[in-house]
Amino acid sequence: MRRPLMAGNWKMNNNLASARKLAADLVQALGGVEQVEVLLCPTFVHLQAVMEQIKNSGIALGAQNCYCEAGGAYTGEVSAAMLADIGCKYVIIGHSERRHVIGEDDGLINRKVLSALAEGLRPILCVGETLQEREDGVTEKVVTRHITGGLAGVSPEDGRRVTIAYEPVWAIGTGMTATPGQANDVHALIRGLLSEGFGPEVAAEMRIQYGGSVKPDNVKGLMDQPEIDGALVGGASLKAESFEKIVKYYE
Ligand code: PGA
Repeated sequence: MRRPLMAGNWKMNNNLASARKLAADLVQALGGVEQVEVLLCPTFVHLQAVMEQIKNSGIALGAQNCYCEAGGAYTGEVSAAMLADIGCKYVIIGHSERRHVIGEDDGLINRKVLSALAEGLRPILCVGETLQEREDGVTEKVVTRHITGGLAGVSPEDGRRVTIAYEPVWAIGTGMTATPGQANDVHALIRGLLSEGFGPEVAAEMRIQYGGSVKPDNVKGLMDQPEIDGALVGGASLKAESFEKIVKYYE
């Protein structure tokens, strides 16, 4: 059985005080939850403050990005090794905002995934089509490229530590969610690709999250789908009450 991973992607939000408060409130609300794994992904500068709040609560810490080199002259970048060193367990890689706003491509994203794995982190590889790509009927092609490109050179053994987040770009921050059926279809495609790459046994263990306007009132329908193993939540993870409701969708 895959234990769902419910992750809050705080993006470029909060200041030090509000990040601490949100983390403390979530420890109150969610500390000790066992049905799902809970993960918080604040900005780099808030990682340590959030870590102090969540330590020993069972809630995991993750970063929103990392660089693909272990160290050296890369001004402004943060390595996977540094993230592992301060207690991160996960790192989000290839989020659509990094692909489309910052301009990251599958080659760079792949190097980041390999670097995260080499440092013992669990990468969350984000994949998904734009509205134009969906309308053009190339969703399958785009998602296949993101998966095969992003995971090139990853061994089946390391594949076990990878989570995929399917996030249709048209559903992120727009209030438009993929229907549970639409999402499940793409998740099934992804599961098939993982099976081709890593074998059915590893693919069956890997978690595939859905992301894109997940809210307290639509999370259950998504989580009821057989291929959906968690949620990557942006906007609705910034308020403790709404993230608590999402995490406890099963109640
Ligand atoms: P959203 O963001 O929940 O605000 O749509 C999801 C994401 O980008 O990870």
